[in-house]
Amino acid sequence: MKPTLIAIDGPAASGKSTIAAALACKLGYLYFDTGVMYRAATWAALDRGLAVSDEAAVTALTESLQIDVKPPSVDDGRQYDVLCDGVDVTWAIRSPEVDANVSPVSVYPGVRSALTAQQRRIGLRGDVVMVGRDIGTVVLPEAPLKIYLDASAEERARRRLREVQARGDQSQTYESILDNVKHRDAIDSGRATAPLKAAPDAVVIDSTGLSVDEVVARVEQLVAREPEA
Ligand code: CDP
Repeated sequence: MKPTLIAIDGPAASGKSTIAAALACKLGYLYFDTGVMYRAATWAALDRGLAVSDEAAVTALTESLQIDVKPPSVDDGRQYDVLCDGVDVTWAIRSPEVDANVSPVSVYPGVRSALTAQQRRIGLRGDVVMVGRDIGTVVLPEAPLKIYLDASAEERARRRLREVQARGDQSQTYESILDNVKHRDAIDSGRATAPLKAAPDAVVIDSTGLSVDEVVARVEQLVAREPEA
């Protein structure tokens, strides 16, 4: 029987979202990308003119935010709408400014506990593929299937560059993306609260050199062999 909770973690731009969305579609599960919540909180802090270094203010703001993920309302390549207090921030949360500030915001324990509580509530409803950095370790440690998806930093930067160019953003270079990916990984792995790491019982997949279809097929094999949650 299929596991009803699937946790997918891994470093920046490792293909988690693409794999998770494809898998959720095949299984008829909800796909939930927790990164959008950290990105929305970061966008809101920048939008309100807060100093990202002001932990108390950023935490209080995050606790007050209404972040929603809904089916896509616009046919512009988006997988879903992200709303922050009713404002459509689907593309704004992918800006270089948010890329540069999201990992420092994600270090704050108060920000994490506010968002983790919401993620756990969604996850425990079941039939969900949840993606992030700490899903298998902190958010849903009871998930019967945990995947840690990795790839070399260079491969990940190449993939992210293709994504940003596909949506018409020509402002970013391979080098700037590679720097951001490495910088975020260092902060995400080094933080004290819920650092990026594979859960002891996660299956690690290095997707360097593998196509999306090959990775999805590998994960589907794992789904088929798992006992029911
Ligand atoms: O898509 P990409 O891999 O570039 O990043 P993301 O999944 O959208 O996450 C953006 C940032 O949010 C990460 O670099 C982490 O700092 C943070 N994050 C986190 O701390 N915990 C999560 N469960 C998800 C994201």
